[in-house]
Amino acid sequence: MTHFLDINTTDSADLRQIIDNAAAMKQSRNGRPKGAPDDTLPLKDHMVALIFEKPSTRTRVSFDVGVRQMGGQTMVLSGADMQLGHGETIADTARVLSRYVDLIMIRTFEEQTLLDMAEYASVPVINGLTNRSHPCQIMADIMTFEEHNGPIKGKRVVWSGDGNNVFASFAHAAKQFDFDLVFTGPPPLDPEPALAGLYTVERDPNKAVEGADLVVTDTWVSMHDPQSARERRHNQLRGYQVNEALMARAKEDALFMHCLPAHREDEATSAVMDGPHSVIFDEAENRLHAQKAIMRHCLGR
Ligand code: CP
Ligand code: NVA
Repeated sequence: MTHFLDINTTDSADLRQIIDNAAAMKQSRNGRPKGAPDDTLPLKDHMVALIFEKPSTRTRVSFDVGVRQMGGQTMVLSGADMQLGHGETIADTARVLSRYVDLIMIRTFEEQTLLDMAEYASVPVINGLTNRSHPCQIMADIMTFEEHNGPIKGKRVVWSGDGNNVFASFAHAAKQFDFDLVFTGPPPLDPEPALAGLYTVERDPNKAVEGADLVVTDTWVSMHDPQSARERRHNQLRGYQVNEALMARAKEDALFMHCLPAHREDEATSAVMDGPHSVIFDEAENRLHAQKAIMRHCLGR
């Protein structure tokens, strides 16, 4: 069974193949030459369950569109409306769903939910974000970087802000794709200890972005964070906003990324988000292409 649970648990040769396939899929839309018969589509006769326990715009739409472009069908399910939201175990849910569908994508809170789904499902499971990681996003981000500025290997990637789930997948990717990752943020919002050794820390954001090939940030308050932490986090993170002055210290051809949704003028200014370094909408588009390649990898098609 080939799941896609995290970047650090996927073979690095497979990760590279997925990125290359995604770039090819971007050209051909459905992975087949123009005019090829429908019954050769990679997901023909495949049903995909897309489960969301948290809100989503990009993940939901890009998976749904991607499956359809490849000839499959989708079922978008809200966790709250399923029995799993009312006490049925993940193990039972996984075994039941596996009798109906060919692939499961799940966005959930606890990582254990994803792991249980993968352990008990007899179809591939894809991680559509947990409190701890967001691997599909970072596959799209690597693809986006390489489209604009060539191989990411050896490049300096600087993360400014909260050491959250999206950062964690960047940290996994730093090892697998061999780039240097620098974290700049306040100590209370440091990345989780399990990621130690995958990145370096520079508390001064101005120093951190010097020589950066890529500057990345994300929301200061994630979906799993208590709203009561909002004011405290804003006070802690204000100095780590990505604005034009900060971007000016990065390399001239540096890129700016944000997985979205963004809180403009908090973690990044509109001048940066809509400015010459920004590739935020390419990232969003590439979710579609990268995930199509991930689904094909999981299904061996
Ligand atoms: N970046 C991302 O995963 O966006 P959604 O929450 O809209 O899916
Ligand atoms: N860190 C954010 C990412 C959203 C795509 C969150 O978990 O809410």
